[in-house]
Amino acid sequence: AQRKQIDKVLALFRLTQEQLVGIRNKMRVEFEYGLKKDTHPLATVKMLPTYVCGMPDGTEKGKFLALDLGGTNFRVLLVKIRSGRRSVRMYNKIFAIPLEIMQGTGEELFDHIVQCITDFLDYMGLKGAQLPLGFTFSFPCRQASIDKGTLIEWTKGFKATDCEGEDVVDMLREAIKRRNEFDLDIVAVVNDTVGTMMTCGYEDSNCEVGLIAGTGSNMCYMEEMRNIELVEGDEGKMCINTEWGGFGDNGCLDDIHTQYDKEVDEGSLNPGKQRYEKMTSGMYLGEIVRQILIDLTKQGLLFRGQISERLQTRGIFETKFLSQIESDRLALLQVRRILQQLGLDSTCEDSIVVKEVCGAVSRRAAQLYGAGLAAIVEKRREDQGLEHMRITVGVDGTLYKLHPHFSRILRETVKELAPQCDVMFMLSEDGSGKGAALITAVAKRLQQTQR
Ligand code: BG6
Ligand code: GLC
Repeated sequence: AQRKQIDKVLALFRLTQEQLVGIRNKMRVEFEYGLKKDTHPLATVKMLPTYVCGMPDGTEKGKFLALDLGGTNFRVLLVKIRSGRRSVRMYNKIFAIPLEIMQGTGEELFDHIVQCITDFLDYMGLKGAQLPLGFTFSFPCRQASIDKGTLIEWTKGFKATDCEGEDVVDMLREAIKRRNEFDLDIVAVVNDTVGTMMTCGYEDSNCEVGLIAGTGSNMCYMEEMRNIELVEGDEGKMCINTEWGGFGDNGCLDDIHTQYDKEVDEGSLNPGKQRYEKMTSGMYLGEIVRQILIDLTKQGLLFRGQISERLQTRGIFETKFLSQIESDRLALLQVRRILQQLGLDSTCEDSIVVKEVCGAVSRRAAQLYGAGLAAIVEKRREDQGLEHMRITVGVDGTLYKLHPHFSRILRETVKELAPQCDVMFMLSEDGSGKGAALITAVAKRLQQTQR
């Protein structure tokens, strides 16, 4: 009887082939809505033009600074690009962003960023250097050019005040001015998906999609200019940051949204927003697991029916724990040990159930990603009138990198849902900072030729 109750919960996370096809098709419809000039009242996938119109061609060169804000780590980087040989050298330093700064005032946040740049320049012996800077800012921004980006709304764990509706490049410039120690030439603001696509595109010119499966969930791709109503001109292509994390905010995923998803949503910083992201990305998967475990415990099916204080603590299941628990090489005893580390006293049976719960949640996430990705590659194939298409997807993010099954299930799902596309996945080894520097290099070159 207990088994039945557990299976009933796990079944909520199982998606049929038919459901996945439905999700792929709905995502496709959202892409089309988002590209229109007159925003559809129900459009939730933003499809933001990025003003990045081409891949690096190998002639880029110079020394650049890059900032990388919005993932697990905040980094400042120095990137040296040599032309011809396509060689890039990078130096970077990770800085912490304390919670009170992530959720404090915008001024404090940008002052902190500038403080980190100062420390980095000191550390590199570059005090007073005036370098062009590329800013990877992994949140939805409305751009009117490559060096302007108005933050639409915060996502993930950020909630600094007085930033939404403001230009993040201006905010950074003002913070640099307040500090009054150095000057920087901020050339480009770039989403992490775009940086990732560029990093991979430097090696493989067939890379026309950037995918992040990390703290957050997002995808960008190269779109034909003629399909982008919001931007003048019909020639060539431009990269679109889809912000697909918002898929489902109009209720179109309600049929697969479980009570656990609802609880996670309600406990988040942005209730009602980023539904798809909350079902798929690292910041939330552990929370879904925790909600299920709480429920199973309440039903007396786990942890001897005792809900510990630990289990009631938000955020205990980070992606890395989820990944460890699901590792096949791990004996159950080790799973128990991990749970113990998390302050959860489990029996052997408990650890089996926990592992199953993690598996169900991460499997659904990978399948949902697969459905989304299938939608974009199919669109690209049809738009180009191809019977068959080969395409490379640049990928980054802790969930993709650390999880033992995620990438495989994602690949299998795309294969099933987009059988006419040959999708190659390319892991970005250098993060999106390198891509931001490459974009900066291209933008700088264009600036100079226009002068
Ligand atoms: C990194 C990028 O490599 O991947 C970040 O440089 C990005 O900018 C990140 O946000 C996504 O992964 P995560 O798991 O750190 O959110
Ligand atoms: C969130 C952000 C998006 C970013 C993604 C991955 O969805 O809104 O801009 O690309 O996380 O970091």
